[in-house]
Amino acid sequence: MRKVHVQAKSKEYDVLIGRDAYKVLGQEAKKVCPRALKALLVSETNVAPLYLDKVKVELEGAGIEVTTYVFEAGEQNKGINAIAAMWNKMAEAGFTRTDFVVGLGGGVTTDMAGFAASAFLRGISVIQLPTSLLAMVDASVGGKTGIDIPMGKNQVGAFWQPSVVIEDISFLNSLPEEVFTEGMGEVTKHAFIMDEELFAKLEKANGNIRDDEDLLEEIVYMNVSDKAKVVNEDENDNGLRQTLNFGHTVGHVIERDSGFTKPHGVCVAKGMGIVIDATVREGSLDASEAEKMKNLLKLYNLPVTDDATPESIVEGAMNDKKKRGDTLSVILVTKIGKAEIRKMNKEEFLKFLSL
Ligand code: GLY
Repeated sequence: MRKVHVQAKSKEYDVLIGRDAYKVLGQEAKKVCPRALKALLVSETNVAPLYLDKVKVELEGAGIEVTTYVFEAGEQNKGINAIAAMWNKMAEAGFTRTDFVVGLGGGVTTDMAGFAASAFLRGISVIQLPTSLLAMVDASVGGKTGIDIPMGKNQVGAFWQPSVVIEDISFLNSLPEEVFTEGMGEVTKHAFIMDEELFAKLEKANGNIRDDEDLLEEIVYMNVSDKAKVVNEDENDNGLRQTLNFGHTVGHVIERDSGFTKPHGVCVAKGMGIVIDATVREGSLDASEAEKMKNLLKLYNLPVTDDATPESIVEGAMNDKKKRGDTLSVILVTKIGKAEIRKMNKEEFLKFLSL
């Protein structure tokens, strides 16, 4: 089993990565929550039929009484009603501050399980068991938790670090192809902003990483290590962590304008493609590097353009939660493996996209 140790300011924890990793859940739970008697196991309707029972058995084997909460799969259910239902379940079952929540699923599940844990009794532990590539390489690590409100995605939430993250590579076998591809949006992002070695590995693999479990495990490990480095330095998103938003400012607008029908990772890829092109036009990125980056996206079946206009992107971006005052932090990649944070106001961002 591979291990990445996250050393965020507010909390230290391990991310364990390997085949059949879920089997260590019971012993890990005893280690990180030694006084726990109860756990709320949160999952959704696509994942629960596959993994809920075996995860529950692991917890029960460690002497934990398990209450389950399974919500209808989908971003449209990432809201306060589900969180309130989780809180009620825990209150009815008599949870105390030493009990914990387990998030078993993709990013929607791990974000919600984390958020429910962050506020119940003013904060109880959460253990994350991500089942999607996106959740393994990004969402479940680093403590960003939250829900959507009608005005936008992840607009309400908390920084709440997990006590341990258990990433079972075998769980990826059941992922539909398009969901796996979506996760590759975040994987390529890490390669672009900070990891030339990962970039080279993905190029060499020529689009085929899914069927090679050893390679897949290594790639997940490299991504988690990248994410950990960023979170260790800037847990609260005031500096370096903002580079993880490469492609996101534009991508979020495309995602929201599609009524959340286009997957997040796909929109991020479109956003990266649009920003890469603008960075070349501005003269801050070589055209040959840009071509290599866009070719990598295409190699993993990700799009690099969208028909959104610069005006509609800028208008949408001005409502983004990442905006501070009237300024956006736009992330540029100026060389493969190197990102830069550029502050832009509305006019500057429009000019940048329209060059
Ligand atoms: N997903 C971006 C971050 O964790 O900051």
